[in-house]
Amino acid sequence: EKQGFKHFMLKEIYEQPGVVRACLDAYFTETPNNESPINLSIPSEFYADLEQIQIVACGTSWHAALVGKYLLEQLAQIPTQVSYASEYRYAPAPLTANTLTIGVTQSGETADTLAALGMERERRQGREPKYQARLLGITNRPESTLGHSVPHIISTLAGIEIGVAATKTFIAQLMAFYALAIDLAYRRQSLPAEKIEDIINGLRQIPKEIEATLEKQEQLSETLAHDFADTQDVIFLGRGINFPIALEGALKLKEISYIHAEGYPAGEMKHGPIALLDAKVPVVSIAVPGEVYEKVISNSQEAKARDSRLIGVTPISDGEAGEIFNDLLPIANVDEILSPILTVVPLQLLAYHIAARRGLDVDQPRNLAKSVTVE
Ligand code: M6R
Repeated sequence: EKQGFKHFMLKEIYEQPGVVRACLDAYFTETPNNESPINLSIPSEFYADLEQIQIVACGTSWHAALVGKYLLEQLAQIPTQVSYASEYRYAPAPLTANTLTIGVTQSGETADTLAALGMERERRQGREPKYQARLLGITNRPESTLGHSVPHIISTLAGIEIGVAATKTFIAQLMAFYALAIDLAYRRQSLPAEKIEDIINGLRQIPKEIEATLEKQEQLSETLAHDFADTQDVIFLGRGINFPIALEGALKLKEISYIHAEGYPAGEMKHGPIALLDAKVPVVSIAVPGEVYEKVISNSQEAKARDSRLIGVTPISDGEAGEIFNDLLPIANVDEILSPILTVVPLQLLAYHIAARRGLDVDQPRNLAKSVTVE
């Protein structure tokens, strides 16, 4: 059932264009006038007087939630907090009114995420209406425990994921957050209609851009994997909406290749981690034109000055970028706001090829389970 792929993880990485298409078909509708272009069937009471969003998740789902926060705040202008479920359940934020609580879990079985949602439901029970729980789940398994414990879910449409490292389910979670943020932006009129249209049109191009990325990257990431097979530490840098992708790139590498990796917001590097850098520590830098491009380039330059080999995940191959990066993992030139769906793909492939080259059990890494059903 690996359909010719050596591992499920690689097959699942290659399924991502189809996953994005499935999400586009399900969540985005052709718009009759005055209706939201989004079809998520969220109960209207969830949106009424909405003041705040609180998201709980673990691991890769937590990274998707961080991208979600960026989208919900920047597109829909709703203050959004993201917490590790394992932290939130023992130190919840003070009760706020008119709050939507979202649990993100691809398996729908992660104990901490379920417990955080349960705690939220309990502490809001019997309160006056504006404090009552509005619990929304985002899961790839609507039939899961999560599916039965919250009144509404957004079902991510990745199909079953077998590799322990989450790949296609992450992309599907991102798509759910784009849909949710656009739906709220549309209803709250926080963005001009043309801007919403641009974003949706941009999203529609993503499947073929992932396909092009996969085609280009296979060889490039195999070559890098050859060079990095014995590397002990890798730093991933990103800013803004791509900071969570730096975290995700580092997590993928850690969990399947057992190489120590850290994701950092590029601007924080000089506050400590820069001390780690030398010729033995490669730095993977996500540099997408937009709000923080120049900043990321100059943060990358700081790493280069410490002799780190610099790998750029970027659409730009000439000018300053062309000069500072030792290696490029090129992506299509998309709007920064859409870029996480593309920038994560080379990082998944890089982690995969490094682990495969090291001869490791990519689909079943040591000490890990597909869903963590204990606290
Ligand atoms: O099923 P969930 O999304 O709740 O799982 C959360 C984490 O356990 C999961 O994302 C884990 O970090 C993955 N192995 C990441 O690849």
